Amino acid sequence: MLLKTLVPTLSLAGAAFAASADDWRSRSIYQVIVDRFALEDGSNGACNPNDAVFCGGSWNGLKNKLDYIQGMGFSAIWISPVGRALDNTTAYGQGYHGYWPTSYTDLNSHFGNEDDLKSLSQAVHDRGMYLMVDVVVNHFASWGDSNVPFSSFSPLNAENMFHSKCYITDWSNQEMAEQCWMGDSNVPLPDVNTENDQVVGLLKDYVSNLVTKYSIDGLRLDAAKSIRKDFWPDFCGAAGVYCTGEAWFNGVEQLCPYQDYMDSVHNYVMQPYAVNAFKSASSDAISSLANVMNSLASSCKDATLLTSFMENHDNARMGAVTSDMARLKTFAAITVFSGGVPTVYYGQEQAFKGASDPNNREPLWTSGYATGSDKLYDYFNTLNTLRNFLVKDSSFASAQAQYTALSGSVLQIEKSGLRVLLANTGSGQDSSVTVGGWSANESLVDALGCTHVTADGSGNAHVTVKGGLPVALYPESKLSGLGLCSM
Ligand SMILES: *[C@@H]1O[C@H](CO)[C@@H](O)[C@H](O)[C@H]1NC(C)=O
Ligand SMILES: *[C@@H]1O[C@H](CO)[C@@H](O)[C@H](O)[C@H]1NC(C)=O
Repeated sequence: MLLKTLVPTLSLAGAAFAASADDWRSRSIYQVIVDRFALEDGSNGACNPNDAVFCGGSWNGLKNKLDYIQGMGFSAIWISPVGRALDNTTAYGQGYHGYWPTSYTDLNSHFGNEDDLKSLSQAVHDRGMYLMVDVVVNHFASWGDSNVPFSSFSPLNAENMFHSKCYITDWSNQEMAEQCWMGDSNVPLPDVNTENDQVVGLLKDYVSNLVTKYSIDGLRLDAAKSIRKDFWPDFCGAAGVYCTGEAWFNGVEQLCPYQDYMDSVHNYVMQPYAVNAFKSASSDAISSLANVMNSLASSCKDATLLTSFMENHDNARMGAVTSDMARLKTFAAITVFSGGVPTVYYGQEQAFKGASDPNNREPLWTSGYATGSDKLYDYFNTLNTLRNFLVKDSSFASAQAQYTALSGSVLQIEKSGLRVLLANTGSGQDSSVTVGGWSANESLVDALGCTHVTADGSGNAHVTVKGGLPVALYPESKLSGLGLCSM
């Protein structure tokens, strides 16, 4: 409610789409760490993620590879932070990821200049895609904590614009998470004092200028849980675009309240439950996932706006969880069909295996940007093609998904007539289930596997989930023009 009343009065001309939450609901996002996505000359340069140093990826490199992203059906790109970052070589490497800013207002010259970022934004918009930029306003970064160079930061350049030094030692202490510093004496992250009115004003000016200058369509709010909740409505109001925040809470009752202050948050509740549900055959884990997802839908302001992910720069890749292709496809399918806004981390389509930070920030160029069905490139295109087709109907996009454990091994996600079936068996095993609620004798298609099923006279379809692979059942009569399965 807060955002809806603020956005119209504060949104500025100049943004290409200035996209609202409603606009983003039907989008599908591809997350990029700019330093690791593509080198401008297209080469396969050396980059060991474990070294945690700048590897040379840039906005121009990304711009040259937009076909690769759009070829999987994604309609938005989230890029890592654009501001100047710590490039001293610390005990934890360099700030190649963008989350150690030393200036919000100056761009990171490793990634390009103002014209390069504008040109990337233009190229994204020319394809009808949206640009989301990751913004860090919780902290700056320093090299050592004895002489923090506050005066060199921008636009917050005085010590009194920061909270006094105390390191976060207990993330369950919310006051500490908001008031103290992340990092440690190797890489301290001085914590911005967002209780200071002058700071709030400077941050609103900063974000409004950023969004306008680079025609940004949406923001990803880094470390959203480390700033008081009621800071965010004014900040996102000044930006005038959709905001999705990183409020890293795995509990429904902690995560949902953040959606009263910003359009969306990453679905940090779903991710660990979904890993448990599909990494192995445990029937309890399927019903636990169903219960927690239904609870999110009833407790959060609007679960269709939550950004759904299985992998990101802070969490292990699914390739580190399993090497079974049916399970990897299941993780891909729940990302796209959870009922929220799909958010896929670059390299998931290549079944990358990096586990914890920094190993999950691999250079994508080692994959040769392979398309095809060896890994998950074609599969993501199939999933997005189906979703892009269905969300053309805005009532599909805004319908809340309902989760049901159909058996100990098969989960159903129902959304406005689509029924996605996900099994926990892995490759090589079939599961039989009855999927009810169709019209008598209705002809159905599994749009992922291209098989046809006819419901019986009572509207029940008897379906075999083959080889542990996801199924997406929809009435054949409504799929004309889909672009899959010869329809
Ligand atoms: C850190 O890097 C900056 C920018 O390159 C440089 O000016 C500064 O001297 C470095 N600090 C240390 C302690 O090495
Ligand atoms: C469904 O098919 C059965 C068998 O062909 C038929 O007897 C029945 O009338 C059909 N029901 C409807 C509603 O079309």
